[in-house]
Amino acid sequence: MRTAVYPGSFDPLTNGHLDIIRRVTHLFDRVLVAVLENEGKAPLFSVNERKELIARCTREIPGVEVHSFSGLLVDFMGRVNANVVVRGIRAVSDYEYELQMALMNRDLNASVETIFMLPAVEYTYVSSRLVKEVFRLGGDVARLVPAPVLESLKQRLPVAAGA
Ligand code: PNS
Repeated sequence: MRTAVYPGSFDPLTNGHLDIIRRVTHLFDRVLVAVLENEGKAPLFSVNERKELIARCTREIPGVEVHSFSGLLVDFMGRVNANVVVRGIRAVSDYEYELQMALMNRDLNASVETIFMLPAVEYTYVSSRLVKEVFRLGGDVARLVPAPVLESLKQRLPVAAGA
């Protein structure tokens, strides 16, 4: 069984994340999407809401499991008996932060390998942060997030007046 862990905040899941998840399932038998329990970051959606959204959006993709974790990623990897971390890289600007994390994780546990994957070109500018900002300001994000996420955004966020 080849297992990969795809960790992140996923606040909320975007089409870019979903694209990476699909690609990883072509390479691994099990893909554990691991939501960081980072309530300190004042997320828009609770961990359970984020997990539920990911589960709904990945229902039809075989091999995907949705988990959450707190503390160190490498400790979670040990608990689920996995040693491959997948991260999506959109632009060169992502690389520095990702390199630091990958090397730190390797320093913490030498058996943990990080692989970087590229999303489809049309999602290279999509981030959860920008999706929330654009939606708040009345912009159309329907092409950037799965339908259940768009519905949840509509329920959760007031759109700016005049937008
Ligand atoms: O979607 P994000 O916010 O870029 O994901 C970042 C994440 C969750 C992968 C990263 O913050 C993480 O792994 N946090 C857990 C704490 C940890 O292990 N820190 C040391 C590794 S650098």
